Amino acid sequence: MSESTTANPILHLPRLPESNGAPAPVAAAVGSGANPYLEMDLLRFSTAGSVDDGKSTLIGRLLYDTKSIFEDQLEAIEGTSRKRGEGYVNLALLTDGLRAEREQNITIDVAYRYFATPKRKFIIADTPGHIQYTRNMVTGASTAELAIVLVDARKGVLTQSKRHGFLASLLGIPHMVVAVNKMDLVGYSQDVYNRIVADYTLFAQKLEVKDLIFIPISALHGDNIVNHSERMPWYDGATLLHHLENVKIGADLNLVDFRYPVQYVIRPHQDFRGFAGRVVSGTITPGEEVVVLPSGQGSRVRSVERFDGAVEEASPLDSVVLTLEDEIDVSRGDMIVRRMNLPTVGNRFDAILCWMNETPLDVRTPYVMMHTTRCVKAFVSNLVYRIDVDTLHREQVETFGLNDIGRVEMTAAQPIFFDGYQRNQATGSFVLIDPHGHVTVAAGIIRGEVRTADELFKDEEAERAPAATAVSPDVVWEEWNVAREEREARNGHRAAVLWFTGLSGAGKSTIARELERALFAAGCQTMLLDGDQLRHGLCGDLGFGEADRRENIRRVGEVARLFFQQGGLVLCTFVSPFPEDRERVRALLPEGSFFEIYVRCSLEECMRRDPKGLYAKAVAGKIESFTGVSSPYEPPEHSEIIVDTDRESVDTIVESILAELDRAGILPQAAGA
Ligand code: ADX
Repeated sequence: MSESTTANPILHLPRLPESNGAPAPVAAAVGSGANPYLEMDLLRFSTAGSVDDGKSTLIGRLLYDTKSIFEDQLEAIEGTSRKRGEGYVNLALLTDGLRAEREQNITIDVAYRYFATPKRKFIIADTPGHIQYTRNMVTGASTAELAIVLVDARKGVLTQSKRHGFLASLLGIPHMVVAVNKMDLVGYSQDVYNRIVADYTLFAQKLEVKDLIFIPISALHGDNIVNHSERMPWYDGATLLHHLENVKIGADLNLVDFRYPVQYVIRPHQDFRGFAGRVVSGTITPGEEVVVLPSGQGSRVRSVERFDGAVEEASPLDSVVLTLEDEIDVSRGDMIVRRMNLPTVGNRFDAILCWMNETPLDVRTPYVMMHTTRCVKAFVSNLVYRIDVDTLHREQVETFGLNDIGRVEMTAAQPIFFDGYQRNQATGSFVLIDPHGHVTVAAGIIRGEVRTADELFKDEEAERAPAATAVSPDVVWEEWNVAREEREARNGHRAAVLWFTGLSGAGKSTIARELERALFAAGCQTMLLDGDQLRHGLCGDLGFGEADRRENIRRVGEVARLFFQQGGLVLCTFVSPFPEDRERVRALLPEGSFFEIYVRCSLEECMRRDPKGLYAKAVAGKIESFTGVSSPYEPPEHSEIIVDTDRESVDTIVESILAELDRAGILPQAAGA
């Protein structure tokens, strides 16, 4: 299909009351002076609940108690409530009534509601709680700074409440409120509330939510919404509105990376050629050097124009027209960026996908991917795992069904220009559309680029710089002088990386040392890289936090790759507790040359062995983030080889690994026989 400009529903959510669902016209998006978005104290929050959790009532209550509904609306719902014989004003009618109208003809099922108190303005992304909540949550929540997750006090913490929390964390929403609703129906019981708090807290420990609070409420009766409830004297925290008014929201706009997806080329007459669009992140001023992607042609910004004239700067979310100094080819779907700050350009990337359609994902089908203003064909080239939202475990599956969430690798027919979602929500998210039904089938967030060994090592020519992201500026890749194949031919065996992972004390080093001896004796070129050794020197500056471990494994991976290029069998023994880190090393090497060897041993047994006395210290609290004690170990799911050191002897294990390497054609003829 040809490229076209289509507003990405994730990226172009209305942010001003006036815009109300339609793409903001230039005039609505910019004020006469500075960017109003940056000045307004505005909290965008999303609400997510399951059917009957009372979300509509809660929203109605907030609007009602803050006097944000019109008299006539109020009269209408009072009338309906009376007619229905309800003994109270049914505030849910306020939102449900509007929803019925909306549902006639909608593409994205999110409604925005606006209200204000003297302290702050609010935009609620109302994501209806019916079965397609994932999609609603994803599309509605992506610009929110706070998520309210509703829990029905009678039902406790259900999968859906966990799913909402998980999505909020995935989308990087920094603040979360778990509103325990319908407290009136459990007799305002503190015990019930405490149990829910305990359950949810346990779950939320595994999420990356910076700020999580709980509030017991009754939306129906207004308890703890605006005023403190006299019926829950045991609760001394903030009311919901008080929290919404006072929660600290930082500037979550990315002001650094200028990204300008071109929406239209404007050419009113021969002498004017401008590019209209919205600055999704970063700022730009006239005179700055820019590059147009994908062509790579450079120029300078001549002017930045708003509807009312030229300005000195454009900021995030500004809708503007840019003109450039040079006549260069720019089309809709292109992206203008700063010369010294480029996004990743590529057609393969790693993403978390939320599937939103009744028809399951078909890994062979190309979908239409909408990413910023670009529309390209794309398919899921690898389904890595599905996440069980209850337990957060990873599961191997063949496809994704409605509401499934998991990690995938995507391949697009043409390159897109992206950043990781963590860095840039606008260029790090996308949706997939079914080209036949024209419905949104999935929403995704981009984790980063996918690099496969195949691409890197296809032939000598293709043997380029390993990672665009891991290169110093202005450095050009030089080919290896002696090709690995020549070295392998001389060595009489193939090169490979044998990556031992497992708990401290599981026996990684013991096995690797024996194995290296055997390989060396068989005439192989070997090198053993051991955690305890590399952390003296090369990695001596690193600790054991997640980021340091990642860097440790990254460095080791690069070193292993060098020895690999030298034709060696490289044995690496590192706890390497995180699958992502291990997979990154795998991706550095050609298919079939990386062997992940999971050295399995129960934690109890490792603690009993405790060869270096470290477990004792860790348990006594003298070592921070010790794997297995105070830091997690995430076992491999598809390692090439698994060995159990609490059941088999070292000799048996070494034999079995040798046999495995022989089968894979790595060893010289004699050794494995
Ligand atoms: S990794 O997690 O980054 O892969 P690595 O294998 O390099 O760890 O180092 C692990 C070794 O460091 C262990 O064998 C142990 O001797 C020592 N060590 C010291 N502190 C810790 C800790 N907090 N967690 C794990 N290992 C530790």
